[in-house]
Amino acid sequence: MKFTVAIDGPAAAGKGTISKAVAAHFGFAHLDTGLLYRAVGAGMLAGGDPLFVARNLDSANLDGNALRTQAVAEAASLVAAMPDVRAALVKFQQDFARREGGAVLDGRDIGTVICPDAEAKLFVTASAERRAQRRHKELTQKGFSQTLDDVLAAVIARDRRDSERATAPMMTARDAVVIDTSDLTIEDAIAAAVAAITLKR
Ligand code: CDP
Repeated sequence: MKFTVAIDGPAAAGKGTISKAVAAHFGFAHLDTGLLYRAVGAGMLAGGDPLFVARNLDSANLDGNALRTQAVAEAASLVAAMPDVRAALVKFQQDFARREGGAVLDGRDIGTVICPDAEAKLFVTASAERRAQRRHKELTQKGFSQTLDDVLAAVIARDRRDSERATAPMMTARDAVVIDTSDLTIEDAIAAAVAAITLKR
């Protein structure tokens, strides 16, 4: 059985949490495509050529923890605007999406560019203030010391870059179900996602 769930949306909207829960609920595999761009961004920060890093990425060995810093997120959004870098990552994502047993992919362009024929598409969003609060809490728990204002400014700048780039900009697919998590608990957001996907099965 092949079944692709595409989950897109801006930074810190809850895509990651929802995607993991949805994958567990349906027994699907999950790919956080942001980690691919973060790995390329981290490679660039370490002095590598982004395209070389993208072409030689060992996607089985991505260390999520080391890649979830603000500096790496910034670098990810810079390399994500490079068409050749994006092109180098397409096949891996499409193969993952069509694996037997079902797949959930979360990112920015999954429902629009990578998997335009995905059986279920969600766009998970929330107000910039709410997203910055969540990201600030996450970063504080990890020992980083940015202020809430700095995190908000970074979230807004990254959203703008992701939406305005020429190649595969972040946008809501026409056939996506929009879930605004600003005023939802995690449980309610997951329930809304599961319900929307169940309708497509
Ligand atoms: O976790 P968060 O939502 O903050 O970011 P992420 O999903 O890990 O993505 C990091 C960056 O990678 C984004 O700001 C985008 O620039 C880029 N990205 C992308 O262009 N396309 C994707 N499918 C996933 C991420």
